[in-house]
Amino acid sequence: MTELRDASATIAMKSGGYYSARTKGAKDVIDNAAPLVLSAVEALDLGGNLGGDPSRPICLADFGAADGGTSMEMIGRAVAALRAKAPERPVVLTYTDLPSNDFSQVFRNTQGNGSAGDHLTGQDQLFVFASGTSFYRQVLPRASLNLGFSATAMHWITGTPCPIRDHVHAVGAQGRELAAFTEQGMQDWATILRHRAAELVPGGRLVLVNFCIDEEGRYLGNTGGANMFDTFNFLWQRLRDDGAITAREYQNTNFPQFYKTVEQFRAPLDDPHGPLRAAGLSLEHIETRVVPCPYKAEYLANGDLDAFAPALVGTLRSWSETVFMNGLDPTSPAARRHSVVERFYKSYEDEIRAAPEDHAMDYVHVYMTIAKDGPGARF
Ligand SMILES: C[S@@+](CC[C@H](N)C(=O)[O-])C[C@H]1O[C@@H](n2cnc3c(N)ncnc32)[C@H](O)[C@@H]1O
Repeated sequence: MTELRDASATIAMKSGGYYSARTKGAKDVIDNAAPLVLSAVEALDLGGNLGGDPSRPICLADFGAADGGTSMEMIGRAVAALRAKAPERPVVLTYTDLPSNDFSQVFRNTQGNGSAGDHLTGQDQLFVFASGTSFYRQVLPRASLNLGFSATAMHWITGTPCPIRDHVHAVGAQGRELAAFTEQGMQDWATILRHRAAELVPGGRLVLVNFCIDEEGRYLGNTGGANMFDTFNFLWQRLRDDGAITAREYQNTNFPQFYKTVEQFRAPLDDPHGPLRAAGLSLEHIETRVVPCPYKAEYLANGDLDAFAPALVGTLRSWSETVFMNGLDPTSPAARRHSVVERFYKSYEDEIRAAPEDHAMDYVHVYMTIAKDGPGARF
């Protein structure tokens, strides 16, 4: 085993609005969370309406928001519900992501100048900010957050604890390698929750929607038919065997990700003697859901393979491209690295064209609501 290899340079969604334009499924996943978010709003004790300080803002945050486009409609609904509940209270909305994120697109989207629709603009007393602080740190001041949301982000771990010999993803790791990823994933999850516990006001809520391995062993791109991560691995290995990439480049390509089971998501919250219980966090709701791949659904309806194959590859590229690009020797010419990556995704498209029925990227998520209790739930 080697030292933790920092992941921050490897994690980046494609910029310039590419991410939310190519990830219709991620928006479906978030829209599915709307009932949980609206219930969380209902459960918030906003004392200001009932005689507390009406000038104190209600704080919302979207952690790991990418360009903000996929959550915009759902956040718009949450803001409307808060307004209905506490009309006189200002609302502060913070979008967070890594410093490498394309925040200019967040600002375009939130000002109604992007492609995500106009759900937040022109509202009096709504204040939108962004933070490039990792969710592995405290992003917001202590006891300031009323409602935190995050979707499809917290599977990115702080780094890869070791190379995975025969695969590109922890879902294909075994033995000591799997144990190392599991330890890293669990440690990182506890860190995320510890910082959110500090940020939440007593009575605040988190609604977290994350990739998982569900009760039937399904996970992203592995719900029957070709396994997406096995396909990535097979095609990347083929480039190695053809001599297009070196053995070292193959070995250096590992997703800094870990998909937890439901039991693993629950574990630190269920521990009666653990630091999260002591900080007042408790699990209110947990369930898993599969959201079908929208591109596959369209293909099944219209049979248009020329639309399906590039659309599915486009959605894969939106989140995986930096991982493959960063696996390549950075001292080799940029033109060579780009052409390897083009060839790789073209080969994935060929796989889809050869057996379209086998390919899809169904989303498998755990949906959780976590509450912070403690004295003075009204403020
Ligand atoms: C797949 S995108 C999800 C975007 C959006 N929440 C959605 O569901 O469509 C994952 C996002 O998490 C961000 N991310 C990964 N690690 C992060 C970290 N440590 N802190 C903040 N954001 C992070 C990535 O930069 C990326 O924008």
